[in-house]
Order: sequence, then C-alpha cells, then structure tokens
Amino acid sequence: MKLFLDTANLEAIKKYASWGLVDGVTTNPSLIAKEGVPLEKRIKEICKVVKGAVSTEVLSTDVEGMLKEARVFKKWAKNIYVKLPMTPEGLQATQILSKEEIRINITLVFSAAQALLAAKAGAAFVSPFIGRLDDIGHDGMQLIEEIVQIYRNYDFKTEILVASIRLPRQVTEAAMVGADICTVPPDIYDKLVRHPLTDAGIKKFLEDAKKAK
Ligand code: E4P
Repeated sequence: MKLFLDTANLEAIKKYASWGLVDGVTTNPSLIAKEGVPLEKRIKEICKVVKGAVSTEVLSTDVEGMLKEARVFKKWAKNIYVKLPMTPEGLQATQILSKEEIRINITLVFSAAQALLAAKAGAAFVSPFIGRLDDIGHDGMQLIEEIVQIYRNYDFKTEILVASIRLPRQVTEAAMVGADICTVPPDIYDKLVRHPLTDAGIKKFLEDAKKAK
C-alpha cells in the first residue's frame, strides 16, 4: 500500500520525505489556504520534493472551467494529479481529461455508487473521505471494503485512496481490506512510526549495554 502525506506544509513534507517512505502528497483548497501561499508556487515546490503523485484541486464547478484549470495544472509538473469533485460535471470532465492523459483524482466520495461511477469515468484515483463519514456516525471503513469488492469484481484500474484519516489504526485497517493508498496528515504519519514500547525497549537496551562495559 502506498502512503501519501495529506498536507501543503512544505516543512512537514520535507521532513517526512527525508524518511524515504512518502509515495505522494494530497492537497485541497483548505490545506493550501492554511499555508497562506499561492497555489502554483506551493504545488511546484511540493513536486520538487516528492516525485510520486501530487494532487491539486480545481475550484471550478462547471465542466469548461475544470478542463481549463486541469490543463494548466498539468503543465506545472510531471507528477500532477488533478482533483475533481464527485459531481456530474466532475465525471464529465474526468472522461475528457483522461483521454488527454491527465490523471484524475475524484474527491469528496462518500458512497460506493459514487466510487463505481468514478472508476467508470476513468479516474486514476478515487478518494473516499472516511473520517468525515465517521464524524456523522457512519462507518467509513465499511465503505472502503465495499469499494475494494466492487473494483475487484470488475477489475477496475482506479486506485482507492483512503482520505480524511483521523487515527493510525485506520491506516492498518485500510491496508487489511486492500486499499491501494492512504493519505495521512503529518501528526498521524508520526504516530505510525512511534510506539511507547519501542522507546522503552531502546532505553533499556542502552542502559544494559552501559552496564556491560
Ligand atoms: C484528501 O485528499 C483530503 O483532502 C483530506 O484527507 C480531507 O481530510 P479532512 O476530512 O480531515 O479535511
């Protein structure tokens, strides 16, 4: 399973990319706004640090506007994936842009039916937002299981990118059910690595080693 960072914070991206296990980055308009830098500048900076897929999202809601934005984004870097919203317009634009070899990440997916349509439209990635489903009392991981099953049944090539992750456990659960990618905020990335028993074990080994001298 691939691990992406869900942030537009360049320092965090540089830090975790230096560990060698960041396969891509996802951004969205809220994450970009948080950084207070122009979109083009930040996306180009991110694409220099991370060679894997970097997703950037359109703001248009009509087909023509989406096509225009996507074609501009594509020129920014080789590893750009364009995020389009899960709407009839987004699905139409996906079909057109996929034929131009612009890779599309359909975002804001909250049902298996939406994921089925995204795959049929030719999206490279589909982004189900599991945390936002859990927030309203639904079962986000159940949605991932359903999408995995549907894509297997029909051998769809669209990759399932699990988004809106709130807990490290969700990453392992997504891996267990066979998702292709998880995108995680920096604080969760950190928690994936660390365990108090690892820290305690290192401390004890170092103390014992000192005693043995
Ligand atoms: C990823 O592509 C999404 O932009 C992100 O995971 C959304 O997460 P949130 O629900 O925590 O805002």
